[in-house]
Amino acid sequence: MPVQPAISKRQIQQSSTSRTVSFWTPGRVLLFSAFVGSGAYLYGVNDASRYLSKSWVRSTAPQYASKSKLELAMRELRSELGEDTISTDDEDLHRHGFSEWSSINIDQLPVAVAYPQSTEEVSRIAAVCHKYRIPMIPYSGGSSLEANFSAPFGGMSVDFAHMDQILTLHEDDMDVVVQPSVPWMSLNESIKSSGLFFPVDPGPSARIGGMVGTSCSGTNAVRYGTMKDWVINLTVVLADGRVIKTRRRPRKSAAGYNLTNLFIGSEGTLGFVTEITLKLAVIPQETSVAVVTFPSIREAAAAASRIMRAGVPVAAMEIMDEVQMSVINKCGSTGKVWKEVPTMFFKFSGTKAGVRENVKLVRDISRQHRSGDMEFAASGAEATALWSARKEALWSMLSLRKEGQEVWSTDVAVPLSRLPDIIEISKKEMDDLGLFASVLGHIGDGNFHESILYNSKDPKERASVEQCIHRMVDRALEMDGTCTGEHGIGLGKKDSLVKELGLETIDVMRSVKQALDPYWLMNPGKILDVPE
Ligand SMILES: Cc1cc2nc3c(=O)[nH]c(=O)nc-3n(C[C@H](O)[C@H](O)[C@H](O)COP(=O)(O)OP(=O)(O)OC[C@H]3O[C@@H](n4cnc5c(N)ncnc54)[C@H](O)[C@@H]3O)c2cc1C
Ligand SMILES: *[C@@H]1O[C@H](CO)[C@@H](O)[C@H](O)[C@H]1NC(C)=O
Ligand SMILES: *[C@@H]1O[C@H](CO)[C@@H](O)[C@H](O)[C@H]1NC(C)=O
Ligand SMILES: *[C@@H]1O[C@H](CO)[C@@H](O)[C@H](O)[C@H]1NC(C)=O
Repeated sequence: MPVQPAISKRQIQQSSTSRTVSFWTPGRVLLFSAFVGSGAYLYGVNDASRYLSKSWVRSTAPQYASKSKLELAMRELRSELGEDTISTDDEDLHRHGFSEWSSINIDQLPVAVAYPQSTEEVSRIAAVCHKYRIPMIPYSGGSSLEANFSAPFGGMSVDFAHMDQILTLHEDDMDVVVQPSVPWMSLNESIKSSGLFFPVDPGPSARIGGMVGTSCSGTNAVRYGTMKDWVINLTVVLADGRVIKTRRRPRKSAAGYNLTNLFIGSEGTLGFVTEITLKLAVIPQETSVAVVTFPSIREAAAAASRIMRAGVPVAAMEIMDEVQMSVINKCGSTGKVWKEVPTMFFKFSGTKAGVRENVKLVRDISRQHRSGDMEFAASGAEATALWSARKEALWSMLSLRKEGQEVWSTDVAVPLSRLPDIIEISKKEMDDLGLFASVLGHIGDGNFHESILYNSKDPKERASVEQCIHRMVDRALEMDGTCTGEHGIGLGKKDSLVKELGLETIDVMRSVKQALDPYWLMNPGKILDVPE
């Protein structure tokens, strides 16, 4: 039996001083793949959390409102903002604390859901919750996978459903000001006559506020970058109700700390984002979508990193394994039967001549990795169908669930050159679980996902899935990668975050949290543990 890597305290300290010791040399990858599936794994999470309690950031355990205080707060808010602002309807509470596709579901639900109509109302809600010490959990599209909108400490979910307006479009400045509940898909649709679009494309039901919350990306990120690259300024309501603006309008500014960046990816733990100014991009002249098959997932991943290294400006490059292709076939949404082998989806965009050239480059590199022929979508409708098959992969997988089953979907990212290695091992380990499981992802960013269909009521099955996922995350860290490329930390990856960055770095994050939210009211328990 091979000796498998356990992350020790010493390694945690090493990684925090960025002296990276790479365990996964290509030789070891091969050796490891030959042995996976056998033997136990020592997982060092407990070490990490014990360490964390020695944190130098002084903080005491927060005291949250009692039930009677909560009722006082609700009465106060209802009389000030109207009865309808606060809901305690059971179904409403359930919808705001539980998700079918999240990796962790816990029993605690929010106690109330607030529906503000403006930044001022959010500010009033925050001020009252602050006065009574009630946890607040921002909620936009509710499509996040880790970065949870769930309420482990109860409290008030703040749903932006009524703040869904596109406020101003500045065509000549190529920017737009929106409220948090604007869905990216309808934003794109409403502004298309301007010749502009917003290129960040996470889950189809995501909204801009939540997209800021998770610092999301999507299939277009390989060409256009992630959410961070597209936000110009933010209006934020802090935990005590103060309203701040992070900066002015120009595309660049060197004025002070970058607070815009601080709030992006903070998962609602630092404040409520109530207004967002986004950059826009010009819709390209020509777009085409193509599909290429590969004999193995390793060949596909290797072709992907060659394509990136050759500097071919693909608009998107996605990988799906044979399992995911079978899911597409089973769901039948593309009106076509695909070969059930590892497949890459490409989007090319730009001028006609540019697209032609890029297609040729990609085809040549793919052939060197024993690809099949490149098949193009015959029409715009077929291209859309193909692309939505990719975007909705998770939903398709959900639709195949049997009684009692859930999908665990999680992501990691590694440096591009390590992709073939990590994908190959992770896929092999997943296959050995004997469950319905697949690899897919934004391969051009070194970012991929594992989705596993399992029975969460079976403790043995749940434990083996959990181990498999932990091993993938640890492996990504060993390869100098990150425990999440886009879904965020939420509740489930807090220990991995400690391993990834080291305790000194986590302590700086705690100091920031402590400074902006000393009573730990904003989305408590996410990203960082609440002080005990
Ligand atoms: C089918 C499917 C495909 C997906 N594909 C991708 C993908 O390709 N790339 C990707 O990155 N993600 C993907 N996701 C995940 C998800 O779409 C993103 O995480 C998205 O950014 C979440 O947006 P939301 O509006 O649904 O956020 P929510 O789930 O409502 O919230 C996300 C987080 O932000 C916080 N938050 C919400 N609103 C605010 C606010 N106004 N102010 C402050 N904090 C706030 C919440 O508290 C929570 O912590 C996918 C999900 C699904 C279901
Ligand atoms: C947004 O809309 C434009 C134009 O309608 C379209 O070309 C583009 O593919 C859309 N972008 C996304 C991310 O869906
Ligand atoms: C943020 O940008 C928007 C749109 O460009 C602008 O109207 C607004 O004034 C800016 N915010 C601040 C504080 O300047
Ligand atoms: C500040 O952060 C925003 C959001 O991440 C980013 O788009 C912008 O480029 C950053 N500005 C500077 C000057 O770094």
